[in-house]
Amino acid sequence: MTQQPVTYLQPSSPPTFYGLGVGPGPAGLLPVAALDILQQVDYIYAPRAKVAVQSVALEALRGLPFDPGKVRDIEFNMDGDDDRIAEHYAALAREIAALGQAGKSVAYLTIGDAMTYSTLGYLAAALRREAPELPQKLLPGVTSYAATAALTGFALGEGKERVLILPCPDDIATLAADIAANDIVVLMKVGKRLSAVLDVLRGLGISEHCALGHRLGLSGEVVLPSLEQVPDAQKLGYLSVLLIRKNKPRRFS
Ligand SMILES: C[S@@+](CC[C@H](N)C(=O)[O-])C[C@H]1O[C@@H](n2cnc3c(N)ncnc32)[C@H](O)[C@@H]1O
Repeated sequence: MTQQPVTYLQPSSPPTFYGLGVGPGPAGLLPVAALDILQQVDYIYAPRAKVAVQSVALEALRGLPFDPGKVRDIEFNMDGDDDRIAEHYAALAREIAALGQAGKSVAYLTIGDAMTYSTLGYLAAALRREAPELPQKLLPGVTSYAATAALTGFALGEGKERVLILPCPDDIATLAADIAANDIVVLMKVGKRLSAVLDVLRGLGISEHCALGHRLGLSGEVVLPSLEQVPDAQKLGYLSVLLIRKNKPRRFS
């Protein structure tokens, strides 16, 4: 059977639900098709953490040409309670389903890549249950680690190097084992464990060729191409991604 490749070049006719990965990092990081969709949809849903003044995903769109009047601020509280999280996404799905029934298209913003450690998956699943007839298109975006790699000149794999992507383990001893078993480790969700992680890297003598991206594209952004000196490690863990390289990079000269 011959299938046509998927294209994002022509936005679907409404109603459609779009999940868009936007940012993070230097302004302008999102697919051309996503910008097209932002301009065509009726509503742009921008999730904002309860503790935040502004949506991080919306900040990633600053300077881009779209109608800010379409934006709906969606407050969320990721407190770890599975029932409350499920109810939040079910309610959101019912609201978007109703808009779909009224013939409207909705774009939902998510930071970085749409399906990498992203809650967009919860919303997409809830929508499939609440409104199976509503067409869905999820567009990939730039991950926080791809943005950090580009900003620091860190090769995310050369030749046949093994790359492991994982949320920072609570048990730091397992991190040393992960580094031993791979060439590169991408560490997300570092949080308060940053100081302990830096101790591991120093112990292994590899801090020099590891990198960090903190609050990319946001106020207080820090980009470190080497972790030999890390000022204020207590504060830098939140919204940070670390790129760990076990061996010195091979450079072609
Ligand atoms: C829920 S995950 C979202 C991942 C995201 N979908 C991606 O593609 O990178 C949150 C983690 O992503 C990373 N992250 C997200 N936004 C970031 C930013 N602006 N700067 C640095 N790291 C970020 C951090 O590791 C954070 O703990």
